[in-house]
Amino acid sequence: MISDRAVGAGCFADMSKISDWLARNRDWARRFRAENPQRASELAAGQAPSVFWIGCSDSRLDPCVVMDLQPGEVFVHRNIANTVPPSDLGVLSAVQFAVGVLRVSRIVVCGHYGCGGIDAALGGDLPGPLGQWVDQVRESVRINQDELDSLDGADRHRRLVELHVCEQIRRLGHNRTVRQAWEEGSLLELHGWVLDVADFIIRPLCTQKHEGGLTYVAGGGSPLPA
Ligand code: CO
Repeated sequence: MISDRAVGAGCFADMSKISDWLARNRDWARRFRAENPQRASELAAGQAPSVFWIGCSDSRLDPCVVMDLQPGEVFVHRNIANTVPPSDLGVLSAVQFAVGVLRVSRIVVCGHYGCGGIDAALGGDLPGPLGQWVDQVRESVRINQDELDSLDGADRHRRLVELHVCEQIRRLGHNRTVRQAWEEGSLLELHGWVLDVADFIIRPLCTQKHEGGLTYVAGGGSPLPA
């Protein structure tokens, strides 16, 4: 569940941290420019990332940290439970910009075990916008109800994390901007991944390219669906 504790644990941090954060930023920026002068001046002129990451907002899943990347290398959209709802302007505009303007060659959807949004989708109704959002995540439960009904506890959670990632890849495969890029000859690839917060290792789950539908990666995640 998205419990009060999970949501609120960081809310009472000492405000003096604000000045700490700004000081750390200045130190980091100075160091980054000193160590990568050419890269820093390139980045001042613009960005040319090759990958678009759609991930969970969870504080443990910063893509630059977990893939050991630098500023400028990954275009990012994050929301609760890495979801691509068919009418969400936030994520759809990010897809349009990443694919149509930045011309990224890969889109990654990365979910994670231990996801509060996925737990919420398996639980009861929640009030407010969070409840409405979780209901969109719940679409992956409805689609895979039979398989999920055969599992319980941690197995059920982990399987929904995986199925939800693959469902978002399937949706992206039907996305208007993605289809148009493929029709124009783009080699754009879609990749579904899952990160295990127990060891921070990312495992590939599924891929989709222009030719052929969604392909499950052998050995990725839980046993493959029939
Ligand atoms: Co999450």
